[in-house]
Amino acid sequence: MPDLLSVYDFDKREADAYLSEASKMEVLLRKGKPLRTLSGKIVANLFFESSTRTNFSFQAAAARLGATPLAFYSDKSSAQKGETYADTIQMMDGYADCLVIRHPSPGMPQLAAEIANHPVINAGDGGNQHPTQALIDIYTIKKLKGKIDGLNVTLMGDLKHARAMRSLLHLLAMYGANATLCSPALLAMGPEVVSRAKKEFGASIKETTKPSFAKCDILYVCRVQRERFADPDEALRMASEFRLSMGSLRAAPKSMAVLHPLPKIDELPKEFDSDARAKYFEQAKNGVPVRMAILKRCVLGK
Ligand code: NCD
Repeated sequence: MPDLLSVYDFDKREADAYLSEASKMEVLLRKGKPLRTLSGKIVANLFFESSTRTNFSFQAAAARLGATPLAFYSDKSSAQKGETYADTIQMMDGYADCLVIRHPSPGMPQLAAEIANHPVINAGDGGNQHPTQALIDIYTIKKLKGKIDGLNVTLMGDLKHARAMRSLLHLLAMYGANATLCSPALLAMGPEVVSRAKKEFGASIKETTKPSFAKCDILYVCRVQRERFADPDEALRMASEFRLSMGSLRAAPKSMAVLHPLPKIDELPKEFDSDARAKYFEQAKNGVPVRMAILKRCVLGK
């Protein structure tokens, strides 16, 4: 059965298959009919790092498909007694049909995939990858704008540490969007991610430290990832450089949708939540049908 470890694991044909399956799942969810697609299966969510959306939307997705979700939290587990990661994975692999793993260290879901017999889904590994979030983002953009090709998408914030942004840039390039990367110089996207997207897809990617939204179709904002800084004061300083004001958002195009992987802290003003362009709660809701599509493919292999 296939693992889903990174956006580098799949091509556009497979990404399209996830998106169209997710659309079908959304229609079925709307009809409210209970599904039995994964009836009798168990999906284990192993969270070694905190999470709200990813954890609970995966649990909701499993439940909506008729599977039973299990929730493992490292701080309440035998990891606290010193049990190794490898032993934990081996145990959980014996209990479940699929392992959804979030970990603060890059590469840990990959390591789990080497140990486990069942499929492993990366639910975010340190500052590395967040492939399921990127699929949700692409799905949301396509739903909002009807296409991705040729759109101007600005990614703004802590592009150095945000795994959601690194994964998303690759998919935006895959789908032919024009990306602008906007961050303080110290928080620029890893050059290896940018050069790979350019080389593989001939993507148009601009980098800037000054936000400008004149021709922007999608503004995608993320928080400063404080937990990934050696110096927390540095994180606070960086966060204060990248707060958007209501004034600058009012001046931005009326058609510019604003996305955010959430949690948002103070990078967007609270009052923007009621602006028609704020689409991040809708984006979070899309997590369920997209993750249903992902679970179906990983567990059933189709
Ligand atoms: C993101 C994450 O955990 O990488 N959140 C999410 O999964 N929706 C973004 C973040 O924590 O800033």
